[in-house]
Amino acid sequence: MTIKDKIQKDKLPKHIAIIMDGNGRWAAKQGNQRIFGHEHGVESVRSTVEGATEIGIQYLTLYAFSTENWSRPHDEVNALMGLLVQAINDETEKLKEQNVRLTMIGDFASLPKDVQTKLNWSINELSKCTGLTLVLALSYSSKWEITEAIKKIAQDVKDDKLQIDNIDKDILDNYLATVGIPDPELLIRTSGENRISNFLLWQIAYSEFYFTPVLWPDFRKENLYEAICDYQNRERRFGKTSQQLVS
Ligand code: IPE
Ligand code: IPE
Ligand code: MG
Repeated sequence: MTIKDKIQKDKLPKHIAIIMDGNGRWAAKQGNQRIFGHEHGVESVRSTVEGATEIGIQYLTLYAFSTENWSRPHDEVNALMGLLVQAINDETEKLKEQNVRLTMIGDFASLPKDVQTKLNWSINELSKCTGLTLVLALSYSSKWEITEAIKKIAQDVKDDKLQIDNIDKDILDNYLATVGIPDPELLIRTSGENRISNFLLWQIAYSEFYFTPVLWPDFRKENLYEAICDYQNRERRFGKTSQQLVS
């Protein structure tokens, strides 16, 4: 029995979010430059998307570049942006064959023009796909997202489009970058770091966390399936007692 066979098809998470971490350490371990690790991370993305598609996951969000990552050395940032353009260019056709739709969350305007153009092209190319929705978090951070949401809410209140008394958690959902996307049931972080690094803070309020020591360039669909099996063995109580869930 393979790890894939162990997955219960009726208990799949709709949305899985992944903090893809450990590229630099993976490269350093073999005496290579950090960018070598980023390059190899693309194969992990390919395998993970394929794995998610094969079992019918609806949403996969990949944290690819954070607001904070702009503080990295210029050479690394430039190399990452270049890699992004190349990967989107090379993978779009294959994504289409897999019926994958693409979208992004993050500060689009802060991205270099060539990244913006390539992203728009790919999103448009894949807009009619109806399978997995792949969400790329690019120049994204949760504090950025929530700040933007608050600004829009304040403006709508000022313009009389929104009444303060009507603001509730569902209204807030509508002002976030993730509007229309269900909250992730499962959040995975690779590389052994036990932190969230400004990712989806609002949306992971009740997510199950799965931390693995595997470095991102070593991550494959089998690792995804292991995480899903682990998730399926958990009891999600949402504040209730175990007994309430049984009855
Ligand atoms: C994750 O790997 C990729 C990005 C954050 C862009 P890192 O580059 O953070 O690799 P480590 O954590 O330094 O090993
Ligand atoms: C988080 O990884 C961001 C992404 C995976 C894109 P980092 O490597 O930037 O996180 P920290 O700074 O070590 O927490
Ligand atoms: Mg890191």
